[in-house]
Amino acid sequence: MARKIIIDTDPGQDDAVAILLALTSPEVEVLGITAVAGNVPLELTAKNARIVCELAGRPDVKVFAGCDRPLRHALVTAEHVHGKTGLDGPRLADPVMPLQPEHAVDFIIDTLRAEPTGTVTLCPLGPLTNIATAFEKAPDIVGKVQEIVLMGGAYFQVGNITPAAEFNIYVDPEAADIVFKSGRPITVMPLDVTHKALTTAPRVQAFRDLGSKAGTMVAEWTDFFERFDKEKYGSAGAPLHDPCVIAYLIRPDLFQGHHVNVEIETQSDLTRGMTVADWWGVTDRAKNAMFMGDLDADGFFALLVERIGRL
Ligand code: RIB
Ligand code: CA
Repeated sequence: MARKIIIDTDPGQDDAVAILLALTSPEVEVLGITAVAGNVPLELTAKNARIVCELAGRPDVKVFAGCDRPLRHALVTAEHVHGKTGLDGPRLADPVMPLQPEHAVDFIIDTLRAEPTGTVTLCPLGPLTNIATAFEKAPDIVGKVQEIVLMGGAYFQVGNITPAAEFNIYVDPEAADIVFKSGRPITVMPLDVTHKALTTAPRVQAFRDLGSKAGTMVAEWTDFFERFDKEKYGSAGAPLHDPCVIAYLIRPDLFQGHHVNVEIETQSDLTRGMTVADWWGVTDRAKNAMFMGDLDADGFFALLVERIGRL
């Protein structure tokens, strides 16, 4: 029985690889893709999501545009990492498939109300604005969510957009606070684990060696977005963040983590968006998140190459 998911995303090259993995994996059924403002403005993330669906030969997938700015703060984008289009690297044609007319938040609400309780997993890959807005607009849907598996946050790997915060959480900390306090099972793919999923040269070459349009596209996306992170971290490759979310749904055995309390800083300018993990249980705060810290990187990339090789 395929796991029903909604992918909430701000493509972004790594989001794009996550969407390709989901669309080539029979273990998951993508009920819809909801775009959110993040790496680049909403108009581009909604366009990029459709470009990726068409690359996967799936113009049938429903793509919705969601919130164009965070709940409280002005939008912060990341063109310095992802380029002006958000999918810089290869030259890409505009999508032909249409956006769905319904707002992404209403799609999330309607889907959770329509599907049996506990059968839909939310997979946020960007700022949590759409998810939090849906929870605030329709509190009755929160208890219907099976699990939230998200890319965001950091603890031992500290911040990537400020010294204290990871980008997705930093952009909309109030939204993240609502999600982390929702009471639903949350599995977090923080920088602590994604920084171990590095796009080393042999791994990128494996995509190129597929000899397919999709494989070449993934290699060219990686070539573009890794330049910034390799410079910053002095590492042998860039972290391929978002596909960790989808890979977890297919092969949870690839990941290890700790179930801890995680709360979000929303008051301080200095540490806005920090995911404060009570790693050693020094408080009596309820454990609300499975916070991943390790993965089998070779197994992860082997899965990615095998699945994308199906296109
Ligand atoms: O900090 C990494 C996250 O921010 C990833 O989801 C990337 O796509 C950007 O959204
Ligand atoms: Ca993302």
